Amino acid sequence: MRIILVLAAALYFIISVAHATEKAPPIAEPKLSGKLVLGKLAFGTHCAACHGKQGAGTDYGPPFLHRIYHPGHHADESFFRAARSGVRAHHWKFGDMQPVPKATDAQLQNIVKYIRALQQANGLF
Ligand code: HEC
Repeated sequence: MRIILVLAAALYFIISVAHATEKAPPIAEPKLSGKLVLGKLAFGTHCAACHGKQGAGTDYGPPFLHRIYHPGHHADESFFRAARSGVRAHHWKFGDMQPVPKATDAQLQNIVKYIRALQQANGLF
């Protein structure tokens, strides 16, 4: 009898964990073509470790799917500046962002396109 209870509890636990992961915030992926594919790749290489897959943010950096990074508040230029000169922490508590010298200008151009497309696909503007 007891073993059945234990098994039932384990099953309940597994199902609820599976359910919780399923419910991770649904981020709409924009239709990707050309430059956006390159942007997504470069973003994955240089930025996603901190800013998260699909710009969702991590424990090391802020999400870009946030109104703070709306193009009206952070113009495209600020993404180049961040990668070239780094960022002094001011909006969040993650600490400073170090420069990302390995990201090329061409990659940054595509990264910004990808972030804007993500923001648009998720209703930020
Ligand atoms: C090692 C972690 C890390 C990586 C890698 C990283 N960032 Fe950041 N980023 C941060 C943190 C931390 C902040 C600071 C947030 C704050 O407090 O304002 C930040 C802020 C920014 C900002 C906001 C700048 C501003 O003016 O407020 C932009 C834009 C940005 N990052 C772009 C990028 C891009 C583009 C890449 C990839 C080329 C990248 N980041 C890679 C951690 C990171």
